[in-house]
Amino acid sequence: MTTLITNIKELLQVRDTNVLKLSGEEMKTLPTIKNAFLLIKHDTIVEYGKMEELTSLEADQVIDATGKIVLPTWCDSHTHIVYAGNREQEFVDRINGLSYEDIANRGGGILNSAEKLQNTSEDDLYEQSIHRLKHVMKLGTGAIEIKSGYGLTTDSELKMLRVIKRIKKEFPVKVKATFLGAHALPKAYKEDKKGYLDLMINEMLPKIKEENLAHYVDVFCEKGYFDLEDTERIIEAGKKHGLTPKIHVNQFNAFGGIALSVKHGALSVDHLEELKDEDIEALKGSKTIAVALPSCSYFLSIPYTPARKIIDAGLPLALATDYNPGSTPSGNMNFVVSTACIKMKMTPEEAINAATINGAYAMGISNEYGSITRGKKANIIITKPVPSYNYLPYSFGENNIETVIINGEVI
Ligand code: NIG
Ligand code: FE
Repeated sequence: MTTLITNIKELLQVRDTNVLKLSGEEMKTLPTIKNAFLLIKHDTIVEYGKMEELTSLEADQVIDATGKIVLPTWCDSHTHIVYAGNREQEFVDRINGLSYEDIANRGGGILNSAEKLQNTSEDDLYEQSIHRLKHVMKLGTGAIEIKSGYGLTTDSELKMLRVIKRIKKEFPVKVKATFLGAHALPKAYKEDKKGYLDLMINEMLPKIKEENLAHYVDVFCEKGYFDLEDTERIIEAGKKHGLTPKIHVNQFNAFGGIALSVKHGALSVDHLEELKDEDIEALKGSKTIAVALPSCSYFLSIPYTPARKIIDAGLPLALATDYNPGSTPSGNMNFVVSTACIKMKMTPEEAINAATINGAYAMGISNEYGSITRGKKANIIITKPVPSYNYLPYSFGENNIETVIINGEVI
């Protein structure tokens, strides 16, 4: 099966030589080809170039992209899309004056979602989750990281991870699973944090390894959740079971979680709404990428991650949704890219780089995804006719996507 896309107004993120991630100044450049073609064979990008270089129109399927922009699909490197029910009542409670912290302190928040998930069957959880997944695929997401962390018991954490595994098998999107048992202290362990840490380390992690259910390990490293010592214990145990750390850190408080994550070779540190100079210093020279989640800042009315400070320090930055029922009930990467430009002063080039190649790096797949490169997976967005790529973040809240191709197939 071959697909030829012709007359592309502008083909974005073209990298003849693959790059794994872009840092600082490099993020300012988005290589493109105007009036281009793109040839897909099976699930792979095999050729591209200027229309005048196209020698044959022969293909099983020809898509005319006159007036349209073509780019790689979004790589959403931080989500919690496997969850049960919603939390719209807490949304109303926040409008009426309660804070995210107030709600958590009275047993709402993550514990509310955990209770719902514990009472939901694996099949039902799967159905609810794929409903969200299908929606975000139509919005251009072609690769997605999904965390556990709303189970908080061995059975329910495994239930979440098995749902992620099933999604991985049934859907063409690239999926990476992350174990986030350390998302909140469950009610049953309210007075026994050590007991819960022991449960994760001695019971959950070995079972996860046995069934090969996760690739990464995450911790909500935050005041009132898991401190530096707890985070280090979980990271070390995760690493013993073959899991690389990707850590929730600096969402509300900055107290050294970034340096700790870097020390342990974390692939990413995510959130960073609160960021100190020493955090920037800790990231320099490391392989750890910062991941900003602007939809979360938007929804909770908390500060935006200081993208300019991170990029201007020469560091790489990725953008992701954080799709979850509490702080970000949206998986729309187009909105993330717009909001990054509008609220974080990222240029469209920087934001698109952050949501494609750097997103792929933040989920460990940038050798295969995140750019238009020969040999990479054919995960492609074709927009509606638009005046320029700047129009994509400019027209916030609009759906500019006409066609999404995943693994070479139109979805
Ligand atoms: O990334 N911060 C921790 N976890 C999620 C929110 C969890 C929730 O409220 O359900 C986040 O924002
Ligand atoms: Fe999150």
